[in-house]
Amino acid sequence: MYKLFKKTVLLSALILTAQVANASESAEKLAQKSGCLMCHGIQNAILGPAYKDIATKYKGDASAEARLIAKVKAGGGGVWGKMPMPPNSPQVKDDDIKTIVKWILTQA
Ligand code: HEC
Repeated sequence: MYKLFKKTVLLSALILTAQVANASESAEKLAQKSGCLMCHGIQNAILGPAYKDIATKYKGDASAEARLIAKVKAGGGGVWGKMPMPPNSPQVKDDDIKTIVKWILTQA
């Protein structure tokens, strides 16, 4: 009985890990497909800041997610340098922007 329980727990943990890995992989694909990765590297800045640096800057800031979603939609500059980000809405769906921003904030 105990053995079976252990196996079940192990299996659920494995499935969960696989699901988390899948979610982040698909967010990365979404970022690729949405053109974000033309200007942002995960580890390196391209035209825009690295996603790792964005995540570090807003770590612990509970309101960052909503603000960044709004900024990605509308575009804008002045935070990282002179180069502004062009608007990504409506060509990228709101849901996709939300998924990508949530994923960016986990990259620190
Ligand atoms: C044409 C290049 C370009 C594209 C495409 C682009 N970005 Fe950006 N992004 C930038 C630049 C430049 C900045 C820095 C703006 C600033 O200094 O305020 C930036 C900033 C950001 C920030 C941080 C904003 C802040 O105020 O700290 C996030 C988050 C972000 N981009 C996400 C995205 C996502 C998600 C996409 C795809 C839907 C995307 N970007 C597409 C150039 C781009």
